[in-house]
Amino acid sequence: MSQLQTKKMLLLLIACISTLFLSSCSLENSVASSLEKTGDWEVVQSTCTECHSSQLISQNSGTREVWLSRIRWMQDTQGLKELDSSLEDTILGYLTLNYGPKTASRRPSLTEAFLPTNPYSTND
Ligand code: HEC
Repeated sequence: MSQLQTKKMLLLLIACISTLFLSSCSLENSVASSLEKTGDWEVVQSTCTECHSSQLISQNSGTREVWLSRIRWMQDTQGLKELDSSLEDTILGYLTLNYGPKTASRRPSLTEAFLPTNPYSTND
């Protein structure tokens, strides 16, 4: 093998190893993201999925204050770094718009007609 071929092989090897390393840095790639693919979602994807999956975000909801309190909680206790104020604003805007407070999170109670008979009832 010539010296040039050896150098080329070495470069190829380095390229392969760095690709492997880079792809393992994030928990999920953006295709697998469960975030709503709208607005600034890619900013949220790249800032917020280093430690947990995007599902932890998309299964939650709340007002801007609630989202801010979650961010502060992660900063105080989970090692989330300080975010630049305009970045934080962008993230909060996306979260509030797409994962805002839900009006109702539980179904209404069943009416009696839909309930099974109670085998322990003392009425009969
Ligand atoms: C440095 C690591 C780290 C980063 C980066 C991070 N989080 Fe978290 N986050 C955590 C940990 C740890 C938990 C707790 C996980 C658990 O309960 O399983 C958590 C939990 C959550 C929860 C669930 C909170 C609850 O009340 O159950 C939400 C929502 C969340 N993160 C959103 C975000 C958002 C939005 C961002 C981007 C601004 C973000 N996370 C970035 C570490 C991080």
